[in-house]
Amino acid sequence: MPSLAAARAANAAFSPAYFPVAVFVGGTSGIGKATAEAFARYTKGNAHIVIVGRNEAAANSVIASFPKPTSPDAVHEFVSCDASLIKNVQATTKSLLARLPKINFLVLSPGFLSIHGRNETAEGIDRRLCLHYYARWKFTNDLLPLLRKAKDAGEDAKVMSILAPGHGGPVDLNDLAVKKNYTLPKAGMTSPTYTDLMMQTFTEQNPGLSFIHIYPGIVRTPLLKLTHPVLRYFNPLVNILLYPVSYSPEDCAEYMLHALLHSGEGFNRLDSHGDDMGKTRWYGTEEEKKRVWEHTVEEIKRALSTPAA
Ligand SMILES: NC(=O)c1ccc[n+]([C@@H]2O[C@H](COP(=O)([O-])OP(=O)(O)OC[C@H]3O[C@@H](n4cnc5c(N)ncnc54)[C@H](OP(=O)(O)O)[C@@H]3O)[C@@H](O)[C@H]2O)c1
Ligand SMILES: *[C@@H]1O[C@H](CO)[C@@H](O)[C@H](O)[C@H]1NC(C)=O
Ligand SMILES: *[C@@H]1O[C@H](CO)[C@@H](O)[C@H](O)[C@H]1NC(C)=O
Repeated sequence: MPSLAAARAANAAFSPAYFPVAVFVGGTSGIGKATAEAFARYTKGNAHIVIVGRNEAAANSVIASFPKPTSPDAVHEFVSCDASLIKNVQATTKSLLARLPKINFLVLSPGFLSIHGRNETAEGIDRRLCLHYYARWKFTNDLLPLLRKAKDAGEDAKVMSILAPGHGGPVDLNDLAVKKNYTLPKAGMTSPTYTDLMMQTFTEQNPGLSFIHIYPGIVRTPLLKLTHPVLRYFNPLVNILLYPVSYSPEDCAEYMLHALLHSGEGFNRLDSHGDDMGKTRWYGTEEEKKRVWEHTVEEIKRALSTPAA
């Protein structure tokens, strides 16, 4: 396990022989933002960095914080996408496929925390499951040709989903969409399990690429802020209580970037310091893995065929 200082030093030594292209879905806030900022800092801005999300003002201030590049090839851009709809994800990946030469790093961290129950989008998918799982599956699946181009040129080609390996639960084959029996714990534990299984399948189908499912730890991002009109008065208290067991987004980002830059080919299932978790608290058999994949393909196809809202 690298210490924070060791992770930082290794990140600072990143000096690729190629011009890197990195896409951060969820790079407008929290862990994704801090990881994009660290990536920009260590490449001295000499990279093509794409920030994907909804909040353009936030993206602009993230981009403004990047070092000014010296390379004429450097591009720092925002691409607007509400990833709670699969149709939007598809429109975004289509445009990226048409204009990016390759992708070296695809980092996925869109999500939210809420105490409300199942909340369906116009496409009939639960919003939370969509951002944590289905949209991330769709970004990965669609952008594989660009990742393969990087790989074929002998460069890094990596996908990292920042979620929660080790915090999953069993697969319910009778309710794969978590529609019949939606409880908050069940919804929360479904995406990590599905992410493990999807990454296994992507790894089998794409030799040479790296797939990373990593747990960030408890990180003091806007995600943890209480927004309830009364409960929000407790934010300072929550901060004090969580302080000893939580990370700043900046420290977390050093670990996330270290895992991204230094993970090898194949499936990497990592804890908050980037240590390999093996199959600790693993859920899903071979049969369940196959069923979850088929369910996902069907669900995405169905979402794309629903009439536009
Ligand atoms: N913080 C923690 O302690 C913690 C612990 C374990 C796991 N995680 C996981 O880590 C991930 C990132 O969390 P965070 O703490 O960095 O959260 P955050 O600061 O709230 O950032 C969430 C990101 O998701 C994006 N997002 C939300 N809804 C979206 C939508 N409809 N379309 C596109 N993008 C959307 C936001 O961008 P826009 O607002 O621009 O759309 C933002 O960039 C989440 O999946 C979370 O579950 C976090
Ligand atoms: C469902 O999500 C929408 C969009 O984020 C939000 O406006 C609405 O309040 C949510 N409904 C519930 C019951 O949480
Ligand atoms: C719904 O899920 C809970 C656990 O989250 C379980 O205890 C309960 O039996 C389930 N109900 C049905 C009808 O499947």
